[in-house]
Amino acid sequence: MKLKNKKSVSAATFMKLKKQAFAVRKKAHAPYSGFQVGASILTQDDKIFTGCNVENASYGATICAERGAVLKAVSEGAKMPLKAVYVMNSSPKAWPPCGMCLQVLSEFCTSTTLITISNKDKLEKMYCFSDLLPESFDPQFLKS
Ligand code: THU
Repeated sequence: MKLKNKKSVSAATFMKLKKQAFAVRKKAHAPYSGFQVGASILTQDDKIFTGCNVENASYGATICAERGAVLKAVSEGAKMPLKAVYVMNSSPKAWPPCGMCLQVLSEFCTSTTLITISNKDKLEKMYCFSDLLPESFDPQFLKS
C-alpha cells in the first residue's frame, strides 16, 4: 500500500511513538481479557500523548487505549488534528482500533493521519485513517 503521508512523521518521532506505545502498554489494566494495549498519538504541535486499555468488571465500562490517549490529549489542550497514531497490543496479531475508537479518532484525525498498528513482536502495519474508516461521520457533517 502506498502511503501519501508517511513523510509527515520523521523516523525519530516515529521511534518515539513506538517506544511510548510499548511503555504505556505495560501499564494496561487488563485482568479480564489478558490483552494489553498501548496507544501513542502525535498532535499537530508534535506532542505525544499515550493511553492504555483500562478494563472494568462490568466489561462494558472498559476504555480502550486509543480513547484513553485522546481524552488525555484533549484535556491537556492538545493541538489537533493528529498527525499520527501508533497502537501496539500484546497479541500475536496487530489489531486495528475498534469501531468506537475509530469514531472517536475521526473527530481528531484527517483522512491522511498515519495509523500504525503492531503486535507483541512489534510487527507493523501502516494505514491512512481513511483506509480504516472511509466515509466517516466527522464534524464536517454538522456544518450547515
Ligand atoms: N482494546 C483496545 O484497547 N483498543 C482497541 O481498539 C481494541 C480493543 C482493548 C479493550 C479490551 O481491554 C481488550 O483490548 C480486548 O478487547
